[in-house]
Amino acid sequence: MPKPKLLSTHKLFEAPRKLLDEHFEVEYWEKAGRPPRAEVLAQVVDKEALICLLTEKINDELLNAAPKVRIVSNVAVGFDNIDVAACTRRKVVATNTPGVLDETTADFAWTLLMAVARRLVEGDQLTRSGAWPGWNLDQLCGADVWGKTLGLVGFGRIGRAVARRAVGFGMRIIYNDAIPVAPDVEKQFNAQFVERDRLFAEADFISLHVPLLPETRRLISTAQLEKMKRTAFLINTSRGPVVDEAALVAALEVGQIAGAALDVYENEPVVHPGLVGRKDVVLAPHIASASLETRTKMAMMAAENCVALFTGKRPPNVLNPEVL
Ligand code: GLV
Repeated sequence: MPKPKLLSTHKLFEAPRKLLDEHFEVEYWEKAGRPPRAEVLAQVVDKEALICLLTEKINDELLNAAPKVRIVSNVAVGFDNIDVAACTRRKVVATNTPGVLDETTADFAWTLLMAVARRLVEGDQLTRSGAWPGWNLDQLCGADVWGKTLGLVGFGRIGRAVARRAVGFGMRIIYNDAIPVAPDVEKQFNAQFVERDRLFAEADFISLHVPLLPETRRLISTAQLEKMKRTAFLINTSRGPVVDEAALVAALEVGQIAGAALDVYENEPVVHPGLVGRKDVVLAPHIASASLETRTKMAMMAAENCVALFTGKRPPNVLNPEVL
């Protein structure tokens, strides 16, 4: 029996490759960088399975070019790059990689939070520059983190992992989500549900942990930024379009908030030019889940989703169970 054909738009890592190669005839994108769209469209034509990254738009155009495809397996938890309804119409299974990146992403939200509060990037630049004049009392004074109020917008797996870390900093933790969690969960995380406006008004650090949905697109725009304290910081490790970047730049410009630390952008890899020159922002290139361990686990999960479907099992992370 010939093995089914699979396209992976990334070369992945050793362990997931080994698994995939046992079950599929795989064409990998072996080159550095992301494949041009035209290459993906051409390579997917005869494939029955597709492993893709969040940089690939899985829409009607791609699905039309892939008439044999039975599964689209995203190597990411966020799946706003996939038109799940379009997959469902064609009975194509769509999968993602939830769970394995929660702790790593929470670590990075903290990395950003600490970096912007304590002006680490400015300090690093000064230290390297050769222009550091030596210790001084008022040099690079940032903001305390310990004992402050952390506001979590979104209190799912990642939001809670961020909350767990805040306990060690003696912080007050408030959160907002579509519905409050059960009282015992609140107690476990030492967190209190508050209405969104109150969260914006009271938090010293606001960290975003919502998926990108029509209702979360530009959730942070002028109206919300105006509610924040002038001493508060915004942290975004969710999806770029959750924040209206132009509004954020305008708020920073007038000192409406103290700073921002971002891992994601509205039009990646383009970064709003108004952010680039600012000292009060820390900018990371969408790497919150980028530990080698976690990225390997994500790729493995994506491979396992494909193998499950083609060995008659239910893929563990199906986004559209109605097609099964
Ligand atoms: C990364 O951004 C992911 O969604 O996994």
